[in-house]
Amino acid sequence: MEFAKMHENPDVLHVGTCPTRSYYLPKAPADEGESSRICSLNGTWSFRYFDSFLDVFPDGSEGDICFDEEDMDEIEVPSCWQNAGYDRHMYTNVRYPIPFDPPYVPDENPCGLYLRRFYMNEDDLKFKTYLNFEGVDSCFYLWINEQFAGYSQVSHSTSEFDISDLLVEGENSVAVLVLKWCDGTYLEDQDKLRMSGIFRDVYLISRPENHIRDYFVKTALNADFTKATVTVETELCGAPEITAELYAPHGELVGSASGAKPVFEIENPLLWNAEDPYQYKLVLRTPEETIEQMVGVSKIEIRAGVLYFNGVKIKLRGVNRHDSDPVTGYTISREQAKRDLFLMKQHNVNAIRTSHYPNAPWFLQLCSEYGFYVIAEADMESHGAATQTGGYGMDEYADVALNPIFDKAILDRIQRSVIRDKNNACVLMWSYGNESGWGPSFEKAGAWVRAYDPSRLTHYENSYYNARGHQNDISSLSVCSRMYAAPEWIDEYFADPKNTLPFVQCEYIHAMGNGPGDAEQYQQQIMKYDGFMGGFVWEWCDHAVYGGTTPDNRDIFRYGGDFGEFPHDGNFCMDGLVYPDRTPHTGLLEYKNVIRPVRAELLDAKTAQIRLTNYRDFTNTDDFLMISWEIQQDGDTMACGVIEDVAIAPHESGVITLNGEIPTQGDVTILLNYSAKKDDSVFFPKGHALGFDQLIVSRAARAEEPLTPGALTVMPDSRTIAVCGPDFRYVFSKTEGVFQSMVKRNEAVITRPMTWNVWRAPTDNDQFIREKWEQAGYNTPMTKVYACDGYVENGVAVITCRLSLAAVYRRPFLTLDCRFEIDAAGRIRAKVDAKRDMERPFLPRFGLRMFLPKAFDTAEYFGYGPYEAYCDKHQASYLGHFAQTADDLFEDYVKPQENGSHFGCASVTVTDGAGAVTVTSPEDVSFNLSHYTQEELTAKKHNYELTESPDVVFCFDYKMSGIGSNSCGPELAKPMQLNAETFTFRFDLAVE
Ligand code: GAL
Ligand code: MG
Repeated sequence: MEFAKMHENPDVLHVGTCPTRSYYLPKAPADEGESSRICSLNGTWSFRYFDSFLDVFPDGSEGDICFDEEDMDEIEVPSCWQNAGYDRHMYTNVRYPIPFDPPYVPDENPCGLYLRRFYMNEDDLKFKTYLNFEGVDSCFYLWINEQFAGYSQVSHSTSEFDISDLLVEGENSVAVLVLKWCDGTYLEDQDKLRMSGIFRDVYLISRPENHIRDYFVKTALNADFTKATVTVETELCGAPEITAELYAPHGELVGSASGAKPVFEIENPLLWNAEDPYQYKLVLRTPEETIEQMVGVSKIEIRAGVLYFNGVKIKLRGVNRHDSDPVTGYTISREQAKRDLFLMKQHNVNAIRTSHYPNAPWFLQLCSEYGFYVIAEADMESHGAATQTGGYGMDEYADVALNPIFDKAILDRIQRSVIRDKNNACVLMWSYGNESGWGPSFEKAGAWVRAYDPSRLTHYENSYYNARGHQNDISSLSVCSRMYAAPEWIDEYFADPKNTLPFVQCEYIHAMGNGPGDAEQYQQQIMKYDGFMGGFVWEWCDHAVYGGTTPDNRDIFRYGGDFGEFPHDGNFCMDGLVYPDRTPHTGLLEYKNVIRPVRAELLDAKTAQIRLTNYRDFTNTDDFLMISWEIQQDGDTMACGVIEDVAIAPHESGVITLNGEIPTQGDVTILLNYSAKKDDSVFFPKGHALGFDQLIVSRAARAEEPLTPGALTVMPDSRTIAVCGPDFRYVFSKTEGVFQSMVKRNEAVITRPMTWNVWRAPTDNDQFIREKWEQAGYNTPMTKVYACDGYVENGVAVITCRLSLAAVYRRPFLTLDCRFEIDAAGRIRAKVDAKRDMERPFLPRFGLRMFLPKAFDTAEYFGYGPYEAYCDKHQASYLGHFAQTADDLFEDYVKPQENGSHFGCASVTVTDGAGAVTVTSPEDVSFNLSHYTQEELTAKKHNYELTESPDVVFCFDYKMSGIGSNSCGPELAKPMQLNAETFTFRFDLAVE
């Protein structure tokens, strides 16, 4: 064969492959446990990397391919060759990695030639032999014993070849040429690190001549769910005799059947749902082969715009998950997948969108076994079409979807995902793909999905792009899906009676860096609207490439731009709920508590009555919930107890009464800690924390400490005002409008001058507002003091000061009128009246920054802790007394940014164990205590580059603006912005 460029021909998608089928691993009839009919070809293969496809066939013919191992390297299969030191990594989000010239790809197309040998004996050859590749990126040509055997593409789908006729007794060879790019690259423009190679399992299957080629297990339930019918529709190779058995979840035989369409009736079936993932076991036997298939019985319906699962209005508490690991890239083992799934279970997640392609075929089996609702997405994204003219033109967005050369490929991709995964109980919705616009191709594919599997819902977010005059027919879709819709948009959706479909946010609360800050706000809407099915956080994990450690043992995680690639999208791949190594972000803790299974409300503080609502969809609280409660006054426990038996049906409420008196004074709170009542053998032990509620009964009225009058002197000069007391000397800067030195008992309290502080190291969620902040000069303010006076009044030193903050060439953005009182004990009492220029954006924060001696590294505070807490991101924290070091308070984002603030604090003391600096305020303050300045956090791209400040940096704020999720989501909600025109900051600063 003259070498034909199948990889640039969208009409030729697969050559020599068998039609797609559902995933199963057949066994020999006598096999117990593992199948003896599978021969894994995972392991070490010979490998040669070529920078260009042109170098593989110097004469343009496949006859030149070198099939001997001489001079070849070795590589592990499965793996991504970029992780084995070949080629280089690249991270691009929307923009294609190659020129947009479909279906052509560059000739300088990197390739990997893989080769290995395997043995077949006489008995093996009596069977048919199928060669399976579960995932190869982006496409591959195959040779068996040096004879061309086929071609395939669609990176995340299985390619199965019948290679029986090409095999010989004894040694055989398999050679695979993998190309980095092909016409399929235009359909795989998902936002991810771009990797290549044979990245999933490869194996041979021996099968008898007569066998079941494919089967579709269909379940039907009667109206009251008391009877189920399980029908197995088979498609056969030859004419095998079939007998079948169905076993109940606990092992009893339900029934036997035979023939090409076995049918079983189940009385009082145990239904599958994500909380109780009961599965039946179907055994399909032919004389020479056995196939085992787990079967879940369930019913998915939409009635009047509301999703019902087994008759119950369930809610999806979801995440988007990519196959991604900093060491193994796309290659994910069952252990790695289970670690993700267990972590999700531990954090109350019940749904997964396999963004944006099918995972390994066994992944959905794990989801069915452990209990997750899945949006199973096809390997289809052509987002890069949208960037051709620099905009996000509605028209160009769909230029791949509307291009008829891709009709066949789009249908193929969607079919492959549905056909392979159809027998998994976990599949709630089929998703046609992501961000590809819409066109007739999707209409045809959608109609096919609906006809092939009417039992599942269909999903596709991008269906609203009516491009190039095409009138979209989206009748195949069963839900309305959006990403990052603002809360106002959602309210409007539900207010409009024309909207009859249930609504899902397939992506929301973009979890990039410090965030998300709006999880609770969306959860309130999810709880409010019956038609709001729930949402899927973008996304589960940070994508990065592990780069070893620095000499001082810090992990190096690399992201876009760290590989010298073009184009790249920087750290936009670092947007997960877990760090690359799966350490939870505070955002995951936040989400966990937002989606806690139970919520409480205080009904009556006198009788300690609380209303509990059970948000589980199928499980009575009696089966999962233990509550340990504490009544706290000013952070001290006044009463506590454990409630082990509360029976509240799913979606119902009940009242519990605490056996303890609720104090009527001070900061009074009730903490209800929810934990697992039973051992859950797989996911977590008995006692595992499920979430908590803290009910605030009352906040204490804060009385100001009386000031101590005494002998004080005030000494002004041209630049400063010095205030001397019995054992201290504070110097106030008449140019900065704040204290420049503080010495008490001959020791420096502050190591550098204090500063007014409006800046924060921008978070990823600040990336858009940051430009406006910088334009306003918030990052480079200078102070101008207009008037400053110092005197003693009634035994207390008083400094008044009027100043403004403004950056070079810009007018002042903030004016402050301050009054500081300093008493004989060295306490400073401040009252600052601030006025903003309202034509400027909201402030990141407003407060003071102090530099303290390095040993002052512990903060004791009464406020929201122990995790970083902001006005819109504090669901994982609660109001209490905490003592934490600067190291504990630091949240180590791979891309450094504002972190570790604590909101709602009545007081904070920073101490080295002996001395202490305490800030109190009649209103709550926020603070950070850190080894890093905000300048350092702003300047560095990676955490391993950070250098500690020689001082401890202590910031306390009148207010810190919220976090939001604007890195991809809506603007920070107005009430979370420090946006008032005037405000007053009062605080006391005491030095011990
Ligand atoms: C969405 C997209 C995701 C991801 C996210 C931003 O538009 O579907 O794949 O790119 O934005 O992180
Ligand atoms: Mg995209």
